[in-house]
Amino acid sequence: MPSFQSLLNDTASSVELALSEMLEKQGDNLMSNPIRHAVLGGGKRLRAFLVIHSCNIFDVQKETATQAAMAIECLHAYSLVHDDLPCMDDDALRRGKPTVHVKWNEAIATLTGDALQTLAFELIACLPKVDADRKIELIKKLAKASGMQGMVLGQAQDIQAEKSERSLNLDDISSLQRNKTGALIEWSATAGAVLSDNSDKELLNYARSIGLAFQIQDDILDIEGDTILAGKRLQKDVTAGKATFVSLLGIENAKTRAKQLVEEAIQALSIYGDKAEPMRQVAKFIIERKL
Ligand code: IPE
Ligand code: IPE
Ligand code: MG
Ligand code: MG
Ligand code: MG
Repeated sequence: MPSFQSLLNDTASSVELALSEMLEKQGDNLMSNPIRHAVLGGGKRLRAFLVIHSCNIFDVQKETATQAAMAIECLHAYSLVHDDLPCMDDDALRRGKPTVHVKWNEAIATLTGDALQTLAFELIACLPKVDADRKIELIKKLAKASGMQGMVLGQAQDIQAEKSERSLNLDDISSLQRNKTGALIEWSATAGAVLSDNSDKELLNYARSIGLAFQIQDDILDIEGDTILAGKRLQKDVTAGKATFVSLLGIENAKTRAKQLVEEAIQALSIYGDKAEPMRQVAKFIIERKL
């Protein structure tokens, strides 16, 4: 078996190539460069990895899995472009590059996010070799995961938490983070089951655990990480007075909780045997990563 790092790199390269070819086919216009800037040339492609390797468990065709992976990376890139806007986190650096509103302007950044979001849904609607019912199921789930019951709600809760007088408890933070980050991770990790019409029960349990572990690690890196490696501004949660797992539990307890969550995630996949090994490995990577 190849090492986990080379599997992660190979998966990221194949998704990068597919995204670049897909954008090439869209032709050149006013929006091409900001969209390419936002979605190409960076990112760990973790959500894409979860889509592709959950698809592998169920023998979903590679071409189908890759296109579903492209869709979630477009949707995620949209969320980052908007997250960085001055009215949100006001960040100038993303994936080691200037953010879209810095390189262009706020209107173009807003529109780049909008276009990436609709592109994600177009890619799923056009998935090759999948029947219409499966596509509709994936579209419904992505709409729910990204909208007012998912990522958008989580972003609103996150911003409210910065300004709130009331201190958040562990349940509030878990709910906020499950919406903000967890929902798209859940969609990604269950995509293979949905596309093959299998139960997503185990993968959903897995995804709930890694989703929280992922955000705990993001919060830890915000404190302990290296800006150059991370490719984004750090130490911003404390400055913003943001309630996070780390602010609530302290850094050591947050690390312990993240480890427990990864163990739980690995347990949840026991029925899948060797085919789920990449999903187990990525769970461990999520809390070991430095970027
Ligand atoms: C960063 O996500 C934003 C959060 C949801 C915390 P990633 O850490 O997956 O960012 P990229 O895609 O690798 O840049
Ligand atoms: C961003 O969370 C989450 C989404 C984009 C949905 P953060 O604001 O913590 O992400 P970073 O730290 O800027 O990457
Ligand atoms: Mg944010
Ligand atoms: Mg941010
Ligand atoms: Mg963060």
